[in-house]
Amino acid sequence: MISNLKYDTVALAALDRAHIIHPWCPLDKASAAAPFIVAESDGAYVYDSDGRRMLDGIGGMWCVNIGYGRDEMADAIADQARRLCYFSPFGTLSTPPAIEFGRRLAEYAPGDLKHVFFTTGGSTAVDSALRFVQFYFNFIGQPAKKHIITREYAYHGSTFLSASVSGKPGDRGLLDFVTDTVHHLPAPNPYRRPQGQSEADFLDTKIADLENKIIEIGPDKVACFIAEPIMASGGVIVPPKGYHRRTLEVCRKHDVLYISDEVVTGFGRLGAIFASEPVFDIVPDIITTAKGLTSGYVPLGAFLVSDRLYARLTGPEAKGRFFANGFTYSAHPVACAAGMKNLDIIEREDLCGRVRDIGPYFQERLAGLADLPIVGDVRGMHLMTCIEFVKDRATKEPIPADWEFPRRIIEETAKRGLVVRPMGHLVVLSPPLIITRAQVDEAADILRTAIGAVMDGLARDGLKWTD
Ligand SMILES: Cc1ncc(COP(=O)(O)O)c(C=O)c1O
Repeated sequence: MISNLKYDTVALAALDRAHIIHPWCPLDKASAAAPFIVAESDGAYVYDSDGRRMLDGIGGMWCVNIGYGRDEMADAIADQARRLCYFSPFGTLSTPPAIEFGRRLAEYAPGDLKHVFFTTGGSTAVDSALRFVQFYFNFIGQPAKKHIITREYAYHGSTFLSASVSGKPGDRGLLDFVTDTVHHLPAPNPYRRPQGQSEADFLDTKIADLENKIIEIGPDKVACFIAEPIMASGGVIVPPKGYHRRTLEVCRKHDVLYISDEVVTGFGRLGAIFASEPVFDIVPDIITTAKGLTSGYVPLGAFLVSDRLYARLTGPEAKGRFFANGFTYSAHPVACAAGMKNLDIIEREDLCGRVRDIGPYFQERLAGLADLPIVGDVRGMHLMTCIEFVKDRATKEPIPADWEFPRRIIEETAKRGLVVRPMGHLVVLSPPLIITRAQVDEAADILRTAIGAVMDGLARDGLKWTD
């Protein structure tokens, strides 16, 4: 819905600079660069504070899956806020929306992942899942199983533990991390595999990396492996076919639990509510979810755990023990009501089927950009895509940071009416699931002209690239 409100962009920008600390905003730039203020929205479009209409190529941040401005969603949120805005989820306390939404999630979950632990977002879902794994092994008398295996370029969140299992090199600067029990494997990125190596051999090496690491640490000390099915923020890294199944087999062989982080890949983005089983052929032990869980209308996260694990913690064996982890706003009733309305819409409009239909077209149109000499790789699946920009296509050397590529690409796309998300030399797209063919064309056409303009600007400023 578009209001007739007028925004004073200059005043808002000044106040933003004065008071708001933004995540991931270079601190020198925060005080100098103008903020990009998004004020309103409608369907697949957002409007900045000057009224400029832009196709939202990033679905907010991988999350506004059902699109913006859904009245029935706003009504569901308002109704629940009036009926019961909040009540504690701790101990035996519960609310109808949490119970009903938990049941519906369990129905969609693969295998026996029938138990839902609600959190407040993706980081707290991952953090809680990892703490649950620690709790589980302590509970069943295997307290040595503490080590976590993850991957470079993973992004799992911003709490101490979820950030520690993340692995984007650029995020490792001035923060502290858990290091003694966290191990990072190289990312399964086929584009960056050694020259001349086949994809099948590359896959073998990635599987060997995992098994060798488990053996090196000692299977009796390794608790779990955590993996996004497609590494989203690390640059939409799609592992070779068979990777998921084979990593799960290695984990099973060594009694290592498998956490599939579906914070981005779930809720339709890959054409399924949970992608682990239908898309990647695995039933993990734990799935984490957030973002599309409520399509970003309100914050919520959750992890789902298998009956196989949970059953061992319940009953007389428990002897009064409990999982001492949770948040005031875990299972927030308003968020759970939003989650149910979100599922209603996804089901009624068959948004998963829609993504399976339009996703390949989206990939095909963006893959068409690969003829531009600055584009090294275009990769993705359904409504997750990354374009990797390089200075030299043969060596795959990225566009160096000092050419301010992110600023240039944001400017050139936004002024033509498209929002994308640059991360260093990468640009990711993850539009709302309601995107139409015409809007896919619009995004691809804008990207082509915007990239052309960026190339002209870079060339004028002296950057040379090798085709
Ligand atoms: C795969 C994955 N896991 C976890 C998170 C953290 O989620 P949140 O930002 O909601 O805490 C993100 C966020 O981008 C993510 O992409």
